[in-house]
Amino acid sequence: MAGNSFGTLFTVVTFGESHGKACGCVIDGCPAGIALEKEDIARDLRRRRPGGDTVVSTSRLEADEPEILSGVFEGKTLGTPIAVLVRNCDHHSQDYEALRDVYRPGHADWTWEKKFGFRDFRGGGRSSGRETLARVAAGAVAKVFLALSGITIRAWVSSIAGIDAPNPSDADFDFDETERNALRVPQSACAARIQEELEALKNAGDSAGGTIFCQVSGLVPGLGEPVFDKLDALLAGAMLSIGAAKAVSFGAGFAAAYQHGSTHNDSLAPCSDAAGVHYTSNNAGGILGGISTGELLEFQVAFKPTPSIRKQQTTVDKAGVVCDICIQGRHDLCIVPRAAPVVEAMAALVLADALLLSRGNKR
Ligand SMILES: Cc1cc2nc3c(=O)[nH]c(=O)nc-3n(C[C@H](O)[C@H](O)[C@H](O)COP(=O)(O)O)c2cc1C
Repeated sequence: MAGNSFGTLFTVVTFGESHGKACGCVIDGCPAGIALEKEDIARDLRRRRPGGDTVVSTSRLEADEPEILSGVFEGKTLGTPIAVLVRNCDHHSQDYEALRDVYRPGHADWTWEKKFGFRDFRGGGRSSGRETLARVAAGAVAKVFLALSGITIRAWVSSIAGIDAPNPSDADFDFDETERNALRVPQSACAARIQEELEALKNAGDSAGGTIFCQVSGLVPGLGEPVFDKLDALLAGAMLSIGAAKAVSFGAGFAAAYQHGSTHNDSLAPCSDAAGVHYTSNNAGGILGGISTGELLEFQVAFKPTPSIRKQQTTVDKAGVVCDICIQGRHDLCIVPRAAPVVEAMAALVLADALLLSRGNKR
């Protein structure tokens, strides 16, 4: 099946279904000699794992302990494929038996059935949010590689259910708070307001979506391969490959369409660092012509509400008969907080690849 591998030089193949034996990845192209420990991967898997909150995330409790099967020797990468395996332990496949012949609204059930003629219906199979675990494992390795060049990636929740969190330019923006509250919101009062809204939605059997803000620092100017592999084009594709992601915007994003050139254009100015030039504003979001400018790379990703809801919906079954459906089982009321490490991981994979590719740009 096509579509399970990603990247040009720093590549990853992911495998696994929600209720299969395991999920994992094989990373190829990671340079040799990089210090890599299991904990580098485990740390990000814990950030993706459910369980930080009883209201927001699924009660499926997985240890998500990674096993590095190959590619690392005496704590360093060998330059050979790095295989990472995470076993699935806490799946309740019986919860899905009633869904064998019914197509859930907002899910990939009908489209997968149409495309392949056969699907693993348990927990959404490969279209499950659990698939993102393998991306996070691979992204953690890419982050370690990027950190050697001073590149760091951080993502947080910028809105849920229409409630906006502070932006980095706001005085009450507190990045440390994003790792303290289970909602990954950069302000505790805002997190409390969102929590209240989510509790009301939970009681109503409904769900919520939201947005994630991702910020990358330490990028040098020059990453990205015009014209088809522009950095923003690759990042957008990577983000939209995450389940439930619906839109991506860079810098000023959709607001750019309402600005004048005189407002939108970022002015250039001389500076004393190695680049010699910097931009005095960042409406571009750190990319011009598909190439990194050296400013902060900033983009947002919009996620739809969790499709599985207890509220009654109408659908059809395999025989085409109209029926009502109320989704039972364990689900994230809002997937957005758990998607933040996934956004970071996909950004890391794109940037690790771009960094390796850029090394062939100049003689
Ligand atoms: C981290 C993560 C967790 C998710 N958890 C759930 C969940 O618990 N219940 C659910 O219905 N969808 C969940 N999803 C979303 C579905 O996987 C996704 O919406 C569905 O497969 C349809 O694909 P599409 O929205 O990309 O079109 C999750 C997605 C991610 C990224």
